[in-house]
Amino acid sequence: MKHHILILNGPNLNLLGQREPDQYGDISLDTLEQKLRAEFSDVELSFYQSNHEGDLVDRLHEGHRSGLSGIVFNPGAYTHTSVALRDAVKAIATPVIEVHLSNIYSREPFRHFSYLAPVCVGQISGLGMAGYSLAVRWLKSHD
Ligand code: DQA
Repeated sequence: MKHHILILNGPNLNLLGQREPDQYGDISLDTLEQKLRAEFSDVELSFYQSNHEGDLVDRLHEGHRSGLSGIVFNPGAYTHTSVALRDAVKAIATPVIEVHLSNIYSREPFRHFSYLAPVCVGQISGLGMAGYSLAVRWLKSHD
């Protein structure tokens, strides 16, 4: 059965490539999508980005309802603030991997805490775009 994986990105990640390139790299979200599609032609990949917390909650629920194999989630700044997103991840059976482009533990103290990490399968932080690819690879090999 072909795996179906959602790449879910939160606030400000639509500005990838333009936004703080020293921190987040110079590759846009569109380019990330193209690279992942090229790398994982054997996986059905969906992409969704929103700057709105409730939209992200809805997308997590929908992912569960539609029977996704897994979700790769970069919650952006909501990582450090959102009980609603934590509850949504906890509420669904779909495995979710939290990904951050930057190493959140080497940055400001307010970024060291993640509401989501304890309810995710795992977390990848600081490996740039490679983090998304590694997360897809893991989800592909775990049913
Ligand atoms: C981020 C890290 C967050 O602290 C920050 O608010 C982001 C991006 C990352 O990918 O490194 O928006 O999730």
